[in-house]
Amino acid sequence: MPKPLKIGKHIARYPLIQGGMGVRISAGRLAGNVAKCGGVGLVAAAGIALNSEFYNGRNYFQAETEAFKAELRKAYEIAPDGIIGVNVMVALSDFEPLVRAAVEGGAKVIVCGAGLPMSLPELTADHPDVALVPIASSIRAAQLIARKWHKAYNRLPDAVVVEDPDTAGGHLGEKMENIGTGEYDQYATVRGIKEFFLSEYGADVPVIAAGGVWDRADLEHALAEGADGVQMATRFVCTEECDASDEFKQMYLDCKKEDIGLIMSPAGLPGRAIITNKDRMRQYDLEHHTPCRMGCLKKCTYKETGERFCIVTALDRSQRGDVDTGLVFCGTNAWKSERISTVREIFAELFGE
Ligand SMILES: Cc1cc2nc3c(=O)[nH]c(=O)nc-3n(C[C@H](O)[C@H](O)[C@H](O)COP(=O)(O)O)c2cc1C
Repeated sequence: MPKPLKIGKHIARYPLIQGGMGVRISAGRLAGNVAKCGGVGLVAAAGIALNSEFYNGRNYFQAETEAFKAELRKAYEIAPDGIIGVNVMVALSDFEPLVRAAVEGGAKVIVCGAGLPMSLPELTADHPDVALVPIASSIRAAQLIARKWHKAYNRLPDAVVVEDPDTAGGHLGEKMENIGTGEYDQYATVRGIKEFFLSEYGADVPVIAAGGVWDRADLEHALAEGADGVQMATRFVCTEECDASDEFKQMYLDCKKEDIGLIMSPAGLPGRAIITNKDRMRQYDLEHHTPCRMGCLKKCTYKETGERFCIVTALDRSQRGDVDTGLVFCGTNAWKSERISTVREIFAELFGE
């Protein structure tokens, strides 16, 4: 039986974090059910306002923080004692208000990727029990964050998630040309980061492997290779509890290995998705003259020059069921989805006696 996962002051019965999936793929229902089963459930902040009762077409940023707190409440109704956290992307325009909303909403863990969360400890200074977990794809990124946090705030990360650009879903922290070359070694990075914290600070910081973990064999492999736990996202999409539309889940059930590929996001990062409709995604914006209404990202080519496509509305369309023109993010394992199961069944398969 794998050891529990200790992240700061919080102990999860199983060493599993459910990866944050933006624009309401992992909202309160999925996160709450994962936490109820003994993992760490994450509500993703990005675009949480969309398809919520709080958004009226004009108040995006205000609705973001309100909808975010509402989803945290929903998760706690499902798992009152569970470990419920959030995923907030550093690249979001409203990164800081969302982090503040997360702590106000009772998040126990804050996971941050898509940029280096250099000021995160300052934003949460009044809530020292909230665990802070950066996502890094390289040893260097983890070192930069740790050195800054240690020097400026006398604090280290409570865990680090190492996301493998060759397998993970959504935005990836590596240049397009370096993905899929076979150069990247996920577990060498896991061990390197572990070793860095031990040698530089004498600290045993949990390191979590994300990307490509699907079944019990993958989980056991990750632990044997030196990870303290895993973060899994793609596997949780085809569950009854996942907050996506049935059509979104059906795309996973129907897709083939070769339908999964890389797109260039307007955020300037590559992203992994089902790419069979990528031309229709751009076409939709051309036909509808989609304006940049939200300004959801700090940097975005669509916002700045109209290049590529509006990512938050493309993700929103698929979340609601328009998978013909919407963007369906997924990891390389999405084709393995065979049926809609429950979160409990996945935990039983991964951790059952
Ligand atoms: C549909 C989808 C949406 C995602 N959205 C986010 C996000 O908003 N923020 C983030 O940091 N990571 C996001 N990710 C990455 C996951 O949290 C996770 O780290 C990664 O997908 C793990 O690999 P796996 O999907 O193979 O388990 C997303 C992944 C998927 C599949």
